[in-house]
Amino acid sequence: MSTTPVIPLANHKEMHRFTQQVLLWYDDHRRDLPWRNISDPYRIWVSEIILQQTRVAQGYAYYQRFVEAFPTVEALAEAPEDKVLLLWQGLGYYSRARRLHEAARQIVQQGGFPTTYEGILALPGVGAYTAAAIASFAYHLPHAVLDGNVYRVLSRYFGVPTPIDTGTGKKAFTQLAQMLLPEKRSADYNQGVMDFGALQCVPQSPDCASCPLADACAAYGSDAVGYFPVKSRATKVTERHFVYLYLPTPAGIWLQRRGAGDIWQGLYEMPLLEFDHVPSKKEVQAHPFMRQFGKNVSLTRVVKRKKHVLTHRRLWADCYVVQSEHYPEPPEPYFCVPHSLLADYAMPRLVQLLLDKVLQNELQRFQEDSSYLQSELP
Ligand code: ADE
Repeated sequence: MSTTPVIPLANHKEMHRFTQQVLLWYDDHRRDLPWRNISDPYRIWVSEIILQQTRVAQGYAYYQRFVEAFPTVEALAEAPEDKVLLLWQGLGYYSRARRLHEAARQIVQQGGFPTTYEGILALPGVGAYTAAAIASFAYHLPHAVLDGNVYRVLSRYFGVPTPIDTGTGKKAFTQLAQMLLPEKRSADYNQGVMDFGALQCVPQSPDCASCPLADACAAYGSDAVGYFPVKSRATKVTERHFVYLYLPTPAGIWLQRRGAGDIWQGLYEMPLLEFDHVPSKKEVQAHPFMRQFGKNVSLTRVVKRKKHVLTHRRLWADCYVVQSEHYPEPPEPYFCVPHSLLADYAMPRLVQLLLDKVLQNELQRFQEDSSYLQSELP
């Protein structure tokens, strides 16, 4: 059995002081955000799903576009999935968008947005944090939020040595967070503690000298701010090696829709070959996929070893142009999309970047060719 104290002794007075300080700080520093000071649970829910893995600065514009396109849960429920994914394009963690969409349909079927913590928690894509946030912000129910920011703030201020990535840690921090929630202004406190983590008690090199909570902060007092929050294990990262193929056929380029069970489900991409190492051009040429183009085919690499980092994954991508005199009809699951329609297909950011690079190259070649032609004119 572990002898580590779960929560170091903090008395009610200290806890009360923390809560009051957070509220005072929030009164001075609150950000005016479009999902605040509203009580529409649908909009609050959309904002919280966007902000699950996205910073406010990036999520802001996505939120505005999303609620403009789908102002009500009914509008979202009726939308085709492709349209939802297009609005999510570039945000990453696309399963958030798919679950949001699925949950919208469920909510409409149920006859309206759930009004209890348990009802909200039962929605696809909603965990304890999001359920507490919606319950608190939309209905003023007494549920404390606990996200990465809050873990960091509480672990530092109270000097909690329990690793946050363990069952014991989660339970202990949930308890502590709930004890800190005031009866009055609970929603403001929840927003405040998150903002405090996002703006003042930041992960790297926080400016503790300017922090109004520093005098009672356990981590600051023992010069151990960088030590908190404690984690029990390092995140394991897997490496994957992708080769994307750009096929410029007269009817357009080949795309496919990504299936279930892997990253980027439901998004579109160019034909993809995956290797367990960085492949040479010869290896790409020898891949069974290439057989369908016959012998008269040339491969030109336009992007080499582009790194793309996702949570728990590091991707390395090459992109080749496949030039052939004759392209067959694309076999399932591929299909041709003319350049003018590419914007209708939601793609992962990596694929978008590769495609932009190829198209830029093509444009440059075209311009160089046409200026060469013009200079030859009499
Ligand atoms: N991060 C998650 N939820 C948030 C909210 N409501 N306001 C600001 N940042 C957040």
